[in-house]
Amino acid sequence: MIKLKNICCIGAGYVGGPTMAVFADKCPHLKINVVDINEDRIKAWNSQKLDDLPVFEPGLDLIIKKCRNKNLYFSTNIEEKIKNADIIFISVNTPTKEKGIGAGKVSDLKWVEASARQVAKFASGHTIVVEKSTLPVKTAEVIKTILEAAQSSPDNESKASFDVLSNPEFLAEGSAIKDLVKPDRVLIGGENKEAINALSEIYKNWVPSEKILHTNIWSSELAKLTANAFLAQRVSSINSISAICEATGADVREVSRAIGSDSRIGSKFLDSGPGFGGSCFKKDILNLVYLCQYFGLPEVAKFWEEVVRLNEWHQHRISKLIVKKLFGTISGKKIAILGFAFKANTNDTRESAAITICKDLIEEGAFLAIHDPKVDPAQIKKDLCIEESVENDLKTLKDIPISDGAWFFSDEIKNTLIGADAAVILTEWDIYKKINWIEMSKIMRRPSWVFDARSTLLLTEQFKEAGLNYWRIGDGS
Ligand code: NAD
Ligand code: UGA
Repeated sequence: MIKLKNICCIGAGYVGGPTMAVFADKCPHLKINVVDINEDRIKAWNSQKLDDLPVFEPGLDLIIKKCRNKNLYFSTNIEEKIKNADIIFISVNTPTKEKGIGAGKVSDLKWVEASARQVAKFASGHTIVVEKSTLPVKTAEVIKTILEAAQSSPDNESKASFDVLSNPEFLAEGSAIKDLVKPDRVLIGGENKEAINALSEIYKNWVPSEKILHTNIWSSELAKLTANAFLAQRVSSINSISAICEATGADVREVSRAIGSDSRIGSKFLDSGPGFGGSCFKKDILNLVYLCQYFGLPEVAKFWEEVVRLNEWHQHRISKLIVKKLFGTISGKKIAILGFAFKANTNDTRESAAITICKDLIEEGAFLAIHDPKVDPAQIKKDLCIEESVENDLKTLKDIPISDGAWFFSDEIKNTLIGADAAVILTEWDIYKKINWIEMSKIMRRPSWVFDARSTLLLTEQFKEAGLNYWRIGDGS
């Protein structure tokens, strides 16, 4: 039986960091090293100030405090940590390829390949290599080929042997610790039973055996893409229904409740919002689409492609609707954006609906005051590809051509809303649910609007009293 003592995780990102933190917490007998080429990220993971950790996840800081430098280490010394490991998780980024063959669809595997080459070069003894990143079907073959080729290369001094397993991660951001501690299932795909059992033993420290599923490696890789495709499809489905609700007088929340009570459908992932974001849904569906095309299944490709297309349409639908309600023009108007993260409880903005909607509104000439309790303004600048304006310049419109939109970051809700013609709720942060709109209506410019793209507010009476116009996603009543 293979006994594992030393773990190395390549990639200290949203998956590698929290996953290894939970491994360390649940397996004090294991030594866990998380390595990354990004020095700043590793520095942040080692920061004494827990507020400076590079990933915000409820509960993560406490685990880091407990395990860091006891059995959990963050380092840039990739060579040494790979050499000492009996099992290596590859948890690097796999974004959509930007150019070349398959651009815009297929995952860029250059970071995975680089990791496999590092492992091939530095590993010693028998090493289990685990795909933690989400990968297209058959990537394990690529990793295996690289590892085996390196062993037969004359200049390779390392005398290692390998097993490759697929162990995709199903955590969702914002609830990562909860998902890792109590997963619905753990999926392990591979050929060698001994290696599969060795990895299962790690999970058995806290996950019941019946929740640990063993499959062949290709099923495991495909199951991950399929899970994300199904979840995203549900969001696009309910968002498409929200548009019909608005047109017909129905209320999407009532429709969700009615269909979600059917145990065959289930109630989760039926909240209509501004469109799904996050680093994975779009990327993984496009990957699936590419695979379908590659394997000569254009009808299947088209089916899944529509999920992404609907999502994009839906995001633009919200921007258009805002312009329409504000008399067809938002040029020179101040619009408060409440929430920039792609969902609550995370500082991640990747593919956030807020990016598309804010870009649309700026394009129409609006001045956006953007608030988010966790997102850094530098990140917003990167996402919008527009420099931040100074708030005072906006007030006086100094230096800003009247037809150009602009944005500034506001770290206080009240300040965000002063003089605003509209507030747009794009992330379902709890703090937005507590806003006193009667008070806020006094500082906004009338006629003022609140666009609730997350259906977070249930204060219809308060809006009436405040004299605010209120629009809620999917509410045709
Ligand atoms: P991320 O971008 O946050 O982190 C990846 C890290 O890998 C980066 O810090 C990068 O510097 C590092 N890296 C890249 N190449 C490296 C190399 N050769 N050596 C050392 N470090 C290297 O990405 P993430 O969000 O953690 O996602 C990682 C994978 O997990 C992706 O395939 C993603 O699809 C999948 N996934 C993500 C989530 C999520 O919620 N973010 C959930 C499940 C699965
Ligand atoms: C998603 C999956 O839920 C995870 O299982 C998976 O591991 C992960 O992708 C991944 O592979 O990266 P995540 O993107 O972190 O997790 O967050 P979700 O909770 O799935 O939300 C995704 C997007 O859909 C968010 O923008 C969210 O606001 C939106 N959403 C979700 C809705 O609009 N309505 C819903 O009912 C649910």
